[in-house]
Amino acid sequence: MTYDSEQMTPKISDLISYGEAISPDTLVSVLSERFYNEPELDALPIVKDGYPYGLATRSKILTTLAIRFGFALYGKKPISVIADMTPMIVHIDESLNGVLDKAMARDFNDIYDEILVVDDEDKYVGRLSVKRLVVEQGNYLASSIAQRELAIARAKEMEKLDAVKTSFMAHITHELRSPIGAIIGFSELLQMRHNDGKRDDVPKYLSLLSSNAQNLRAIVNNILDLSKIEAGRMEIHSEEFSLCELLAEVLETCKVLAGDKPLQIEIDCPDPSIKLQADRIKTRQILLNLASNAVKYSDRGIIVISAEVTDQLHLAVKDTGIGIKKENLERLFTAFDQLEDAKTRRFEGTGLGLTITRQLIQLLGGAISVESTYGVGSRFDVSLPCTTKPKLKVAS
Ligand SMILES: Nc1ncnc2c1ncn2[C@@H]1O[C@H](COP(=O)(O)OP(=O)(O)OP(=O)(O)O)[C@@H](O)[C@H]1O
Ligand SMILES: [Mg+2]
Repeated sequence: MTYDSEQMTPKISDLISYGEAISPDTLVSVLSERFYNEPELDALPIVKDGYPYGLATRSKILTTLAIRFGFALYGKKPISVIADMTPMIVHIDESLNGVLDKAMARDFNDIYDEILVVDDEDKYVGRLSVKRLVVEQGNYLASSIAQRELAIARAKEMEKLDAVKTSFMAHITHELRSPIGAIIGFSELLQMRHNDGKRDDVPKYLSLLSSNAQNLRAIVNNILDLSKIEAGRMEIHSEEFSLCELLAEVLETCKVLAGDKPLQIEIDCPDPSIKLQADRIKTRQILLNLASNAVKYSDRGIIVISAEVTDQLHLAVKDTGIGIKKENLERLFTAFDQLEDAKTRRFEGTGLGLTITRQLIQLLGGAISVESTYGVGSRFDVSLPCTTKPKLKVAS
């Protein structure tokens, strides 16, 4: 179906039936016989020397013939005697809406009569079914409304994606630039110390070089993880492992991250004999992302990392840190979004940690929830499907 460029409605040239026409001399008996025998035939245009002359419609011819005048009287007369000799005629380039308006303005009995279409020389081209025009216009309106809504939704989606991409590029470039700049800077300083033989600062520079390289690796890993998850290429590898050992590992990393902050970090582990059958690497990553946030966003107080096993694995990370404002809780899992307090650049990070955490949890079939009071602290709860060894008796 083609549409006219201005209004985008269907063109009437696409809707024309280019069927047969009859001459004005066709006998009424011949045509009535055809109407009797061809139930699909609704009307036949009457054309003389290529020009429209009249219209013979099934209902009118048959009722006129049978009820009012009788076949015997009119059977042998030419069709022009009882046909509609002033049919509606339109030019082939008229708009669908215009044609429909005219058709609907006709006398009630004629509304659904077919319309004859002519070309620039007023010669007969074909006929239009009003019923079809109405259906086409209805379809067009329905599809144009749906298409417009789809187009608006797509445009909004694209805008959102674009904004996310732009902020991603700005953010990532910045995040990558700082450790790269530091690595280059410290390498040059080390080179200078190597040349001038002053070795006092070398251990400090080496340690800063290493921590910046690790930071860079973490950022790149985060970006790679996220794109892998979003491309659906992240796979689940289930293995058997000790839950308490995993918690202890996370605790050690958190202690290193906390440095000399006055933070008390504790783990609350269930029975040490419990072995889980689950994806250890992803479970560790989820826990570490939450625990490292707790360390990052707390200056003092207590952090508790706890686990509980029922029919699922429940993990919780509780801190007494800066907390999150109620209005920011929804944005928490949005990629590259650091909340205001974090944006002051007191805290480094990509704003990807929680996004990846939630995606990993979804991939594993689990759920995450958060409760937080601004200025008081936060608690993140995760539940993940798992099996245990030995099998636990779950209280009903
Ligand atoms: N425990 C928490 N306490 C207070 N605010 C938090 C806490 N965890 C997350 N946030 C807020 O949520 C934002 C998003 O956290 P997320 O872990 O996704 O990113 P990030 O820590 O800034 O960077 P990344 O984890 O990629 O290094 C943080 O910038 C911070 O504002
Ligand atoms: Mg984080």
